[in-house]
Amino acid sequence: MNEMTNSHILVHEFVYLEPRTLEAALALLARYGRRARPLAGGTDLLVQLKMERLHPEAVVNIGKVPGLAGIEPRDNAYRVGALTSIRALRTDPSIQAYYPALAEACRAFSTTQIQYMGTVGGNLCNGSPASDTAPALIAYGAELDLRDVARSRRLAAEAFFLGPGQTALQPGELLTGVILPRPRPGTGAAFLKISRVAADIAKANAAILLVRDGEHVADCRLVYGSVAPTPFRARHAESLLIGRPFSPALATEVAHAAAEEISPIDDVRSTAWYRRQAVRVMTFDGLHMAWQRSMQPIPSPAGDGRLRQSSMLNNLEQAPAASPEQEAALALAPGEKRPITLWVNGRKHSVWVSPTDLLLNVLREELALTGTKYGCGIGECGACTVQMDGRPVLACLVLAVAADGHQIVTVEGLQAPDGTLHPLQQAFIDHAAVQCGYCTPGMLMTAKSLLAEVASPTEDDVRDYLKGNLCRCTGYARIIRAVLGAAEQMSAPPHAAGER
Ligand SMILES: Cc1cc2nc3c(=O)[nH]c(=O)nc-3n(C[C@H](O)[C@H](O)[C@H](O)COP(=O)(O)OP(=O)(O)OC[C@H]3O[C@@H](n4cnc5c(N)ncnc54)[C@H](O)[C@@H]3O)c2cc1C
Ligand code: FES
Ligand code: FES
Repeated sequence: MNEMTNSHILVHEFVYLEPRTLEAALALLARYGRRARPLAGGTDLLVQLKMERLHPEAVVNIGKVPGLAGIEPRDNAYRVGALTSIRALRTDPSIQAYYPALAEACRAFSTTQIQYMGTVGGNLCNGSPASDTAPALIAYGAELDLRDVARSRRLAAEAFFLGPGQTALQPGELLTGVILPRPRPGTGAAFLKISRVAADIAKANAAILLVRDGEHVADCRLVYGSVAPTPFRARHAESLLIGRPFSPALATEVAHAAAEEISPIDDVRSTAWYRRQAVRVMTFDGLHMAWQRSMQPIPSPAGDGRLRQSSMLNNLEQAPAASPEQEAALALAPGEKRPITLWVNGRKHSVWVSPTDLLLNVLREELALTGTKYGCGIGECGACTVQMDGRPVLACLVLAVAADGHQIVTVEGLQAPDGTLHPLQQAFIDHAAVQCGYCTPGMLMTAKSLLAEVASPTEDDVRDYLKGNLCRCTGYARIIRAVLGAAEQMSAPPHAAGER
């Protein structure tokens, strides 16, 4: 981070543009060319802007363009819209059934909040060699649909990455979707990731796919992240597998070859030496997992029976079609202010915002809702978690203008109008889960989303869901007990749980 960077605010001024149709988005991107940046979930772009690594003249919010999100079957393939969230990919029954390595990559991807906010298109277009979805998509032979005002083209995901932060996207071009061919019968695949802590970017990751023909490997793809300037396919190691009978000795030979073939570097996350060891071990383990899976029939897609029917996982993915009066893009000049409507805790607020105002600061400074905390300002601590349209989001990475018209719930909205505490709040008190209390509002808001999704979570569910909420007093054991206690109380029959 730049020594002078203040992650509380956005210093760099830009034109904010919010098209409501794909045609309008492409026209704006054509007009600004390299001087514009599309905004999807904002989990990369907002961090880059805050760190003053990017200075676009225009930010084009594509989040309200209809038709860019969702997962749908096509002829012998699935199409995943570029705006589809990592969370939706992780939980989609068809992705879990046909592309388990992709579902695993999304499960291993950062935190709950980042999974809800981050999109597959943003993950690819960011061009990071450490992307978690890229190796799995390349292993499955995915193709990318790219569009600008003049033409559409389709490119193999493998050919998309040119260097760190560099992709084949041309100025004015948008990634609109990802085409995933249906895997051949006999395919088995697995994704593995090694990171410093559960919610971190990979030290190294691997997507291992093979196609079985009897006892032989008919075809395979070995793709790695964070071990080369781009997501990397180890073609020499692949050639050692193809046509040979699978055995532990062959897996060892291929794992050594893959570790030699990569070109890792030392950086803040790991050393080159460690990355080679990680690739060797992940390849050996991944080959065995993939081989085992190749013997199993592809299961028919089935949802997770533990999720509540009303779960917000997929039903909010699709932006509604724009009405004719909405089709003209909203444009806001640098520093210009406009009124927006925020529905916060059920109350309507009208506030004036400029393009660089952040939802977190508007909540705290304009609406005096100071329960939502500023911690890191770059998506890493979860202290600023609020619910937006039912989803847990990080208010430090949301432009206030983009939240216009949305429903926000903050910690102040948890208790009943008569002052009765929400069962989660009561459980935090009962289980002594509050020490200094700084992380508590974010913990409560994330836990609220968990309990809306899963009625009876296990301890592992709670740990996984809350992994993006850091507690510097390290009261995790009590926090987890409190969430489990609240879940038990809330799922008890009404006469046992009381009115709420
Ligand atoms: C705390 C934290 C943890 C993270 N952990 C992980 C992790 O574990 N694994 C991982 O892979 N990533 C991780 N990331 C990175 C980030 O969350 C992902 O890359 C995410 O998928 C980006 O999606 P987005 O929609 O938020 O992209 P945005 O931030 O909106 O956009 C990212 C870039 O892509 C461009 N862009 C977005 N959509 C399009 C499009 N459709 N067409 C053309 N250009 C487009 C934008 O202009 C921008 O340059 C993490 C980020 C944070 C802040
Ligand atoms: S302040 Fe938003 S995640 Fe830390
Ligand atoms: S209780 Fe102090 S940071 Fe969690």
